[in-house]
Amino acid sequence: MSSEAEIHFELYRHLMNAIEEGASHYGITYTNVEPEQSLEGGYADLVVETERGDPFFIIEAKREPVDDPDRGIDPYSTQVIDQASRYATRLGAPYFATYNGRKLVLFKTFERGVSLLDRKSRDYEVEDISEFAGALLGEVAGVDNDEVEWNPHSDTFISRLDSFHSLLQDEFRDSLESKLDDDSFVSEYEEWIGDQGWTEDYEDDPEEVHTAYTSQASYLFMNKLVFLKLLEDADAYVDVPDVDLGDLAEPEARRQAFDDLMENVDFEAIYEQEEIFDSLPLTEKAQEEVNLLTDELESYDLDDQFDYDVIGQIYKEIIPAEERHDLGQYYTPPRVVDLITRLTIDDETDDVLDPACGSGGFLVGAYNRLSSLGVDDHEDILSQVHGIDINRFPAHLSAINLAVQDLSTETHNTNIEVTDFFNVIHGQDRVTVDRASVGDDEDDDGSYEVDFPPIVDAVVANPPYIRSGQIDDVENAGSHLEGLGYELDGNSDIYCYFFTHAYEFLEEEGKMGFLTSNRWLSADYGEELQEFLFDNFKIHSVIDFRQQMFEIPLISTCITILEKCNDPEERRENRTNLVHIKDRFDDLEELVDVVRDDDQEFGTMNINSRFRRATFRQDTLRDMERWDRYLFGPKIYFELLSEYEDQLCSVDDLADVSRGFTSGDNDYFYFQEQNEYEEWGIEEEFISPLLKHISPTEYIDLKEEDPTWYYLDATEYVEDVLDAQTGFEDRDDAEVVKEQLEEDGYDGVIAYLEHGENQDLNDADESPTVMQKGRVWFDIGEPDKPPLILAKEYWRDARVLRNTSGIALDQRNYPVEPHDGIDHLVLLGVLNSSLMAMIREMEGREQQGMAMNRNELTVGDAEDMRIPDIRDFSEGEADSIRSAISEWLEEEREASEDEQDEFKQKLDRAVLPAIGFGEDEDGELDEELLDERVEEIQQAVEDLLERREQGAGLETEVLIGDEREEEEEVDEFDLAGATRISDGGQSSISDW
Ligand SMILES: C[S@@+](CC[C@H](N)C(=O)[O-])C[C@H]1O[C@@H](n2cnc3c(N)ncnc32)[C@H](O)[C@@H]1O
Repeated sequence: MSSEAEIHFELYRHLMNAIEEGASHYGITYTNVEPEQSLEGGYADLVVETERGDPFFIIEAKREPVDDPDRGIDPYSTQVIDQASRYATRLGAPYFATYNGRKLVLFKTFERGVSLLDRKSRDYEVEDISEFAGALLGEVAGVDNDEVEWNPHSDTFISRLDSFHSLLQDEFRDSLESKLDDDSFVSEYEEWIGDQGWTEDYEDDPEEVHTAYTSQASYLFMNKLVFLKLLEDADAYVDVPDVDLGDLAEPEARRQAFDDLMENVDFEAIYEQEEIFDSLPLTEKAQEEVNLLTDELESYDLDDQFDYDVIGQIYKEIIPAEERHDLGQYYTPPRVVDLITRLTIDDETDDVLDPACGSGGFLVGAYNRLSSLGVDDHEDILSQVHGIDINRFPAHLSAINLAVQDLSTETHNTNIEVTDFFNVIHGQDRVTVDRASVGDDEDDDGSYEVDFPPIVDAVVANPPYIRSGQIDDVENAGSHLEGLGYELDGNSDIYCYFFTHAYEFLEEEGKMGFLTSNRWLSADYGEELQEFLFDNFKIHSVIDFRQQMFEIPLISTCITILEKCNDPEERRENRTNLVHIKDRFDDLEELVDVVRDDDQEFGTMNINSRFRRATFRQDTLRDMERWDRYLFGPKIYFELLSEYEDQLCSVDDLADVSRGFTSGDNDYFYFQEQNEYEEWGIEEEFISPLLKHISPTEYIDLKEEDPTWYYLDATEYVEDVLDAQTGFEDRDDAEVVKEQLEEDGYDGVIAYLEHGENQDLNDADESPTVMQKGRVWFDIGEPDKPPLILAKEYWRDARVLRNTSGIALDQRNYPVEPHDGIDHLVLLGVLNSSLMAMIREMEGREQQGMAMNRNELTVGDAEDMRIPDIRDFSEGEADSIRSAISEWLEEEREASEDEQDEFKQKLDRAVLPAIGFGEDEDGELDEELLDERVEEIQQAVEDLLERREQGAGLETEVLIGDEREEEEEVDEFDLAGATRISDGGQSSISDW
């Protein structure tokens, strides 16, 4: 689509189609769309009518007739809105919409001059107009019936800024094109690109770098305009000079205007000149957009409206997902900020640092905390609060966020630095940084030397979550470790380095409060970090929340509260509370009491409906693996360990578990489908079934006909041929076997062996793993065919299989050989009970995956896993397990899902009493109690699975991710062809 007329036409056509198919929603029946309706003073593009021919809403579908067809008008711009609202008012239509081919914004018809924040609107990113047109009819009827909600007020403002940002960015792209002919600009630009570490990206894909650059230029410029308006509104700033915003096109004029501003209001954090961005001229259209936005900003009172929430939302919503993802730029919910600042800032004299400050959530939290502790001067508080962010845009937002905390006082200085935290070196008195705040002595190159940061009393942060493999410069991130005498595991995600580096800026007894991924509690890489924490801190608490507590999901995260402590004895004796919060605490102090409790005995767990708290002396925690189990593990698991311990043993007391089989080269020796070996004509004699993973069968009893993989099985043939050899052969064994194959006419397998030789599989240097297997290179030996099979990894299905058909196993399955005297069926029954599923969830490892994290066991884990000791079962107990599992095995192939559930139920009801669950106080079996225990365990398994599912995939890459939220919103709205741009309010900071 390239012209305005086409946008009209497409929209018209699809709306008409929807109406002809019968568009009736919430009692409103649409009957017609009138195109180009003539009105005094112009034409309404499209008028959508209901039953009696009443105009219900009109749509202004505009696109600027410019060269680039992708550039549209801003559907939020006053001109467009004014025109549309004029037409709607004249026609008596209660709603109107503006549309540019990409974005559609629906408004309630309003009087002219109503400020942006007072307009009722709802916006949509239109992906497929053919689907969206019909959905739009439902939406408009929905808002009319109060069934569909308008955007919250601040969203309208954010969306306006968002659309301004993207239009300005398009224009800056044009300006950049013109500057790319200018050699001196180009050399500066390339230097800047180098500073960002993007030189290689620039060589690979210059357009991507241009986009990132123009996006930043556009953010920074937008902030300057918005903040200027804020200063003009704020009483404290009496000296704000008149800035002629109508004349910013030329860099010189712009520089002058902002320099004047800086001289008078002294707010370098925002107005500091940056050659690389400020030398871009504004196009004529960009200047027009600036004029429109500034006119609009005139119409409302920013002083009252531009608060913490709005700034947080700018951060959250304007930065595109991909960009946010690269730097881990996510907004921290105010409740988390309040809790962390409350637990770490104790005294009014405390200095506070956030080394990854983003839009300033923690800085504002620290501001409020200091203020509540009694610091009452705005400038004094600001002098105690320090922030660092690698990126200038969030740093700007932080500075604004702090300034707006008190607009009755001028802000001269915010201690916000734009730098990579890992470039800030402790002990180096003065560091040179590219400074976003008022500086001391300016160097020639515009950078400043400052004392930064000081040693502080509290470090608080929600550091970025970037996986180890994606950290741009691991060396830089880890360069401080040598001085500390520590190492972190190479797989450590970036937040681990924030812990160790931030330590260097803490006073003795200073506190650290971080919101991070909780992977360090369970992943292998966490061990080194735990070691560091044990050696240097009192670990006061680790807190995790049910994610429902927040408006946006907090996935796999925890809060860690630490205190720097050099005294080993004090550290050992310290109390560590591991706290899982289940309920919403409206009173922050009540929550603080739960987290800080110092009455509970060491080594005990307190579980109630609102929280669970496990308390340990720090030195006992040191030897414990997987502390996270105490945070999420079901109550019944701990009951099992403490009260039924005598009934348990470990798996290796009952059976041998070993590593499965490896071929040395799966690509060659394995075939996933029958046709893969048939294509080569490999004779059936050389093919055997192989169980690669348990998922192809949904049963417990593995049968020959179950779909499995296949492998090239030459072992028996090779043995026969070589054993039959008489006398000394002058040829190597492989030649002897191949000759026999030829004699026997096995052409298919011979062709395949040649294929293998062409890949050097018969060359010990090239393929050592293959060559060391059997007697000749294509004999990979006899895989295990054990009676029971334990999956090394699984997602949802914790089945243990019986292998009556003797199918070979790959290494993703562990062979289980019961010891002499152990009844196979009873063991199989116990292993398939819900009790074992729960134990495996708790004792296995969680490995990250895309759709769902998987549960994985090493052989060692499997051997150590706890299990009811079946050697102690009475004959009667063993019998009932045997009969439950036998019935299941016999009937599973014909059983419905419900019947399968019944089998499981019967098995659980047989296994649990064998260790004493379900017995009343007198040791008698109580059937009702037993049912309750069975249900409790089954529910625990479900909850653990759900937790593992939620911790998976993309979502774990972000701390506070709204990718999931966005996905859910789409589902929730079920709106065809479009994505709602924004929805839902943000909790306010006082909303405890
Ligand atoms: C999760 S956000 C912090 C959010 C903040 N607490 C808020 O409420 O807005 C993490 C921030 O760390 C910044 N960051 C990433 N790597 C950094 C580094 N090496 N040094 C300093 N800041 C960094 C990102 O730009 C991002 O703004």
